[in-house]
Amino acid sequence: MGYFIEQTGTSSRLGRSDGRGLACSTDAAGAVDALEAALESMLSYFGDPLAALDQVAAADPGWAHPQVLKAALLLTLGEHEPARQAQEILARVEDGGNERERAHLAAARLAAAGDWEAACRAWEAVLVGWPRDVAALLFAHLFDFYRGDALNLKRRPQRVLPSWSPELPLYGYVLGMQAFGLEESGQYDEAEDAGRAALEINRRDPWAVHAVTHVFEMQGRHHDGARWLALRQPDWAVDNGFAFHNWFHAALFRMEAMDTAAALAIYDAQLASATETALQRVDGTAVLWRLGLLGVDVASRFDALSRCWPVEEPAAGFYAFNDVHALIARIGAGDTAGLAGAGEALMAAMASGASAGASNRRMASDVGLPLARAFLAYAHGEWGSAAEGLLAVRDRAHGFGGSHAQRDIISLTLLDAAVRAGNRRLANHVLNERRPGKALTPLTAYWQQRVGTAA
Ligand SMILES: [Fe+2]
Repeated sequence: MGYFIEQTGTSSRLGRSDGRGLACSTDAAGAVDALEAALESMLSYFGDPLAALDQVAAADPGWAHPQVLKAALLLTLGEHEPARQAQEILARVEDGGNERERAHLAAARLAAAGDWEAACRAWEAVLVGWPRDVAALLFAHLFDFYRGDALNLKRRPQRVLPSWSPELPLYGYVLGMQAFGLEESGQYDEAEDAGRAALEINRRDPWAVHAVTHVFEMQGRHHDGARWLALRQPDWAVDNGFAFHNWFHAALFRMEAMDTAAALAIYDAQLASATETALQRVDGTAVLWRLGLLGVDVASRFDALSRCWPVEEPAAGFYAFNDVHALIARIGAGDTAGLAGAGEALMAAMASGASAGASNRRMASDVGLPLARAFLAYAHGEWGSAAEGLLAVRDRAHGFGGSHAQRDIISLTLLDAAVRAGNRRLANHVLNERRPGKALTPLTAYWQQRVGTAA
């Protein structure tokens, strides 16, 4: 880290550079050191990154940048209340700092306004000028995920990697992001290589562990995947803010093996109480729904979980991906009367768009609402209509975000609806998609058996 004279509009102040040589408009050595720790916390999910950013701000209260980063990080949680807190922060942050820091502020404001595409373009502008700005890369990567933009999940890290080198601090996390983008783009061998390379640098990188986990998931290597997570459990599961999601994957591997008891045990031990954030509730909901499709009675667990999901604006209607999972949880609880009211409220929240920005309004109308209608048809036992609705929307469902593995809930529900509708041709047609990667798994055999007996 070094010193430089920073021009900030009409004034100049002594500044410092961070571990990757980026100018920071603070002259407090402690602030730059604290920023380094906060960045690592943001990238690794260890510790409390929001508190770490507060420590940066405390080290130099005149430096706006850590507050901007905190706002952006809150926005990456993809739900209403943190976004409201982010808007409050951004409303009181004063314009200032160097050109890179001001560009961060512009991007965060776009994200706070709900234009996630424009925000990603603005973070990309930061990366064009400063390709070693790992915070800009992280924020854009997470919003690429929320927007289902597999191309940029892969290409954004690719575009900056030539400006990095292995000796730079935090380099491994860039490889981890690259690995996930490659995986979501179907480049599984390269994804696994990149993920393993990231973990050679730093074993305790849960995002890189997760990227390789996705490779196992997509290739039907459920035994390898379960072993991978089990062996590396100390690196991702203990005191980590992302652990719930890797537990979700661990449960998926058990279900691929048709070990529903083990998957349910993971839910009970790791996910049932993880209901604080929408990200957590999405994964718990998905595990229970998939177990329900396999004939496991999960209604009471769904009853408890569905009570944690908001169905009214402004908390509902913020992000369609969350809203659809809220609806799924209500359906899973099996309370017909409760579902009627909650379903109506969720549909109204998605349709209104009052608490959403432009990005989510588009996601809700293109994907969220038609998908919700299909799930409601399923809830009412209208199997043919549910299958038709799910089939119609799933090819564009990437538009409301999530990973291929998460959106597989749509195809599995479609399979179930087609079987129940007695539409063996459609069920078999959909099941064929599992054959390239998962032809021999017990879960595929389960579906094959059900499709074969469809009336
Ligand atoms: Fe995942």
